[in-house]
Amino acid sequence: MIIAIDGPAASGKGTLGKRLAEHYGFAHLDTGLLYRAVARVLMDRNIPLADREAATEVALNLDVSHLEDDSRLRGAAMGEAASVVSAYQPVRNALLAFQRGFGAQASGAVLDGRDIGTVVRPDADVKLFITAAPEERARRRHRELLGRGEQAEYERILEDIRRRDERDMNRSTAPLKAAADAVTLDTTHLDPDAAFQEALKIVEAKR
Ligand code: C5P
Repeated sequence: MIIAIDGPAASGKGTLGKRLAEHYGFAHLDTGLLYRAVARVLMDRNIPLADREAATEVALNLDVSHLEDDSRLRGAAMGEAASVVSAYQPVRNALLAFQRGFGAQASGAVLDGRDIGTVVRPDADVKLFITAAPEERARRRHRELLGRGEQAEYERILEDIRRRDERDMNRSTAPLKAAADAVTLDTTHLDPDAAFQEALKIVEAKR
């Protein structure tokens, strides 16, 4: 069984994906980490993010093991940088085979990102599109960053989220949008537990 979860930054799709995967004993892939890792390698090598060829090369040779354990990937700067390199079609193509094959050995898989239900796994059994108001997403990200001891200012985070939404939704390659057969879940007024319960109902109805 394949569960595809898409949605904008800080919508709660990562937390939800993780919980659904744990509940069902499925493999889980946060695909944003792949783009974040590409951005990170470029930054570590002092290569400008604007260098499409270098970004593609990095994506083709990306070491996809242990991304989950790399806390540096989760910072705000890396999210912003990921949003730049993820707009390059050759970078997306380079990461496609890994994403498509993910979870083949498991009884099921949960993948979350921006284009899972539309491009990576259009054949997914369940497609969820998770949204929340930008102000609420900024509040969550703010709390999360402070919790990890990072410097964070709410207004700047809100600005970053709006800019990232704008870029992710209006790019020509794989723009963020709900698949025609996705169920939209607005988590603005739901805490993680309530969002999980709602998602469970949707998944169970399709099982
Ligand atoms: O979800 P996360 O914030 O980690 O994603 C970082 C960036 O990577 C997003 O803003 C988006 O531009 C890009 N991304 C993407 N496709 C995915 C996952 C992430 O383009 N499947």
